[in-house]
Amino acid sequence: MSITATEQLIAPHGGELVDRTGDRPDDLDQLPIVELTSRELSDLDMLASGALSPLEGFMGREDYARVVEEMRLANGLPWALPVCLAVDNAPEGDRVVLADEAGRPVAVLEVEETYEYDKEREAEQCFRTAEDAHPGVARLYEQKSLYLAGPVTVFGRAESPFPELAFDPAETRADFSKRGWKRIVGFQTRNPIHRAHEYLTKTALETVDGLLIHPLVGETKSDDVPAATRVECYRVLVDHYYPEDRVVVSAFPAAMRYAGPREAIWHAICRKNYGCSHFIVGRDHAGVGDYYGSYDAQAIFGEFEPGELGIEPMFFEHAVYCKRCEAMVSPKTCPHGGDEHVFLSGTKVREMLVNGEVPPAQFSRPEVAEVLIQAYRS
Ligand code: ADX
Repeated sequence: MSITATEQLIAPHGGELVDRTGDRPDDLDQLPIVELTSRELSDLDMLASGALSPLEGFMGREDYARVVEEMRLANGLPWALPVCLAVDNAPEGDRVVLADEAGRPVAVLEVEETYEYDKEREAEQCFRTAEDAHPGVARLYEQKSLYLAGPVTVFGRAESPFPELAFDPAETRADFSKRGWKRIVGFQTRNPIHRAHEYLTKTALETVDGLLIHPLVGETKSDDVPAATRVECYRVLVDHYYPEDRVVVSAFPAAMRYAGPREAIWHAICRKNYGCSHFIVGRDHAGVGDYYGSYDAQAIFGEFEPGELGIEPMFFEHAVYCKRCEAMVSPKTCPHGGDEHVFLSGTKVREMLVNGEVPPAQFSRPEVAEVLIQAYRS
């Protein structure tokens, strides 16, 4: 039997890449309509493309309960966060139309069940807090009070705001194979890539074949840098500082949940579906405020048996530029500290950019700073 090129890549989670795209049914007009939120639409798009393999739809009660309590699907496969659709009432009939925020029909869901869920329990387990000051918890508390479950068939894929970066898992996999890559490290980010991020990605790239820069472009908090600005930052950075034949930049359509440790596992599993064998987890991955310890998102990988997740995490400690070492460093590689390290808080950087000041080159590449200054000006 001949081995096709993509078989040299890591297998998708659960073994097969799911495809939940399909034809628009003829009887749409007769079906009840459920309008999805922005987060649910992101999840739906990822269900369609197989980014959430092996899920074929919004989670039923058994999967949901086991994910919340044990970080596993009902069949025992690791899975860290609920992928659920919230509704007010159980719909009539056995199929519903799912519509986007403009009311446009995009998918059909075959109703398997509608069930109650405990928002506080979900918050405590998944976000490690029940405080509504946490943006992910706040969103959970605002949700409708029942979950509607069942497999989906998506006939109206969301138009990507960045079509040139919109690659589904099957496409990134085909691209990696064409390039002859087997070991690929995925990098999740919701920020412009500053020197610390660049250091992580390049250090990781030293030991694998290729790098997937995979910025999240779904919904984020209002004070995160908008995706359009970030995409421009990634473009100038990669053009000037990365070798073209070692890097793929593609958009990750997920919404941020800010669930820290659990989201790190979820992010890793999704990137495995895109064909990554490795995944970068640095300091306070997917964190927000002070809800998580700096390395909680690394420690949580220890809750799974080696090999169970398939994708291998690459952990990094807090990276900064050290003037004495004249290099990017971390506590693992540098004995200095204090004034020797160029450390700027997010707030300080924002202040500088708003005032049109270019942050030090040890913090951000000037080309990236320039894009951000222009964006803050307008
Ligand atoms: S995240 O919400 O997407 O995790 P961010 O874009 O800031 O936020 O981070 C992307 C990745 O880089 C995460 O794995 C994060 O842990 C890591 N990271 C960000 N800044 C640093 C840093 N200074 N040192 C080490 N890791 C970092």
